[in-house]
Amino acid sequence: MTPRSAAVVLLFLIGAAAGIAVLGANPPPSKPIASVAPAPSPSTWPDYSLNGPGFVAPAGPQGELVALGYKLVTETFSTIGPEAPDPAKRFAGNNLSCQNCHLDAGTSRTGLTLVGSVRKYPWISSDGKHEVTLRDRLNECMTHSMNGKPLPLESQEMDAFVAYLKFIGDPPAQHTPAMPHPPVLANAARGAEVYARICAACHQPDGLGKRIGSANDGRGYRFPPLWGPDSFNATAGMNYVSIAAQFVWRNMPRGVDPRHPQLDLQQAWDVAAFLHAQPRPPGPAAR
Ligand code: HEC
Ligand code: HEC
Repeated sequence: MTPRSAAVVLLFLIGAAAGIAVLGANPPPSKPIASVAPAPSPSTWPDYSLNGPGFVAPAGPQGELVALGYKLVTETFSTIGPEAPDPAKRFAGNNLSCQNCHLDAGTSRTGLTLVGSVRKYPWISSDGKHEVTLRDRLNECMTHSMNGKPLPLESQEMDAFVAYLKFIGDPPAQHTPAMPHPPVLANAARGAEVYARICAACHQPDGLGKRIGSANDGRGYRFPPLWGPDSFNATAGMNYVSIAAQFVWRNMPRGVDPRHPQLDLQQAWDVAAFLHAQPRPPGPAAR
């Protein structure tokens, strides 16, 4: 047995054990897919950017599940968003897509990449008391970034997300270089000027973004909102000034070459401080 197939079998066994443990506590899942072996992943870094070769579902029994995962990441709003056709599937609380932040369906190297994420889980929480699985971590984005409800741990949607993350997850993860500190303390008032001059053209002066179509059509945004009722909530990672500064510096305005940021460091930190000061839904604890 090769190390790789041994790893697959091990994953299978862990998956099966986890499945049994969950079955003990919950009603049986509608579709037990956890025991399917992972589809072969691309061995090079996948590129699903606008100019890249694009996503192609792998052949084989898992292809469909991986393709559903890709759809969920790129069209979250129409599949599990508040305007999804099936009310029972409305888990996300806003009309963002995962890829509004995890750029290029999670394959961007600088926009909160999801390539290699599967390798980091499970991990033990900082207090050493509990294990955090990839499914748990994904649900954090559901309840904070997507301002919604957690997906059932055993559901077709969760299985599809995980199948997709495994599919793009083979190449070794790379670390985004650390975000340098700003020359002077970040300042929201200066950030407001940066926003008006550079960001408002797309994200709109009121920060509420611009829809592709109109409200309630389930088609999501051309330019996502950065604050207001349809944005990420107060406890989301993007509401940390350092995380937003890092993301904005390397990736905004959308399309900028991350190696040659358009904003200077001070502008990135200032505009992140400005975003942090804007109104948004409270975190789950406050609901
Ligand atoms: C508003 C921005 C935003 C949206 C939308 C969003 N996320 Fe995230 N996500 C983040 C941030 C920020 C992090 C944490 C990065 C860090 O810890 O430095 C993160 C982390 C993650 C991680 C852990 C990655 C790792 O390598 O540890 C997963 C998995 C994830 N998100 C999945 C999703 C999925 C699936 C969706 C859609 C249902 C989603 N996210 C939507 C911002 C977002
Ligand atoms: C040319 C249009 C454009 C400009 C200008 C622009 N953005 Fe964006 N921004 C986008 C698009 C499009 C996305 C969603 C990315 C995707 O889905 O591929 C995005 C995503 C984001 C996100 C993450 C998603 C969310 O809803 O929170 C943040 C934060 C953000 N932009 C901040 C900024 C800031 C701050 C500026 C100004 C410095 C800026 N953007 C300028 C087009 C733009």
